[in-house]
Amino acid sequence: MPEQIFGRKILRFDQVQSTNDLVRDAAEQGEAEGLVIAAQEQLAGRGRMGRRWIVPRGTSLQCSILLRPPLAPQHASRLIQMAALAVARTLERELHLQPTLKWPNDVLLDGKKVCGILTESSIVGETLAYVILGIGLNVNYTMRAYPELAPFATTLQDVLGYAVELSRLERALLHESDALYARICNGESLVEEYRARLAMLGQPIRVLERGEILQGIAEDVDADGALILKQDDTRVKLLAGDVTIIK
Ligand code: BTN
Repeated sequence: MPEQIFGRKILRFDQVQSTNDLVRDAAEQGEAEGLVIAAQEQLAGRGRMGRRWIVPRGTSLQCSILLRPPLAPQHASRLIQMAALAVARTLERELHLQPTLKWPNDVLLDGKKVCGILTESSIVGETLAYVILGIGLNVNYTMRAYPELAPFATTLQDVLGYAVELSRLERALLHESDALYARICNGESLVEEYRARLAMLGQPIRVLERGEILQGIAEDVDADGALILKQDDTRVKLLAGDVTIIK
């Protein structure tokens, strides 16, 4: 059995500003990889693209993980794919659900977002000093209380109709992450499995990137995690952005 990295040390907090910030402080102080910081409640939970991440206290998985992968900075996106896949595999194995992925790092159930991932990296010179994986998985509450979000977002409780044991879910997620991380550290890319789970390949999409809206066909995702958008005869490579499938 290989040594377990994820959850080597787990710190649990009742209330924090953002678990990503606490992990960053620990990383800057030299903490080893594998640290997990989990919180019942975040007062300043952060999402991608400057958004806030707010979920009712004690209902969900909100945690951040410190990694120090032996990867070049341009391969950091492999960790985003890894985290999304670990969540998808956990939902599949533990709860027999059929999640799909939305580039770059959302996990969907029935086409709605159930989990978001926020990665933050520190690059020193030519090396990736550390990566923080922040994972927010909506679990034991209902989106019916949030009519403005309900068309796009869901919770495990909404999908399953019952409450899920958070500690079991967390354990399974750390276990799945560990197995995938070992492959990443061996130099593997997980893009094949990631691609196979992407909901939007071949479909017309709209991408919001740095204030600009681009439209085209979601053609592929390359080994470094870039989305290849086909526009007539040209192809645009996108490293970040917010995607909507055009119905
Ligand atoms: C997104 O989809 O926009 C990403 C959401 C990430 C939320 C998680 S919850 C734990 C960690 N701490 C944060 O402040 N954000 C991430």
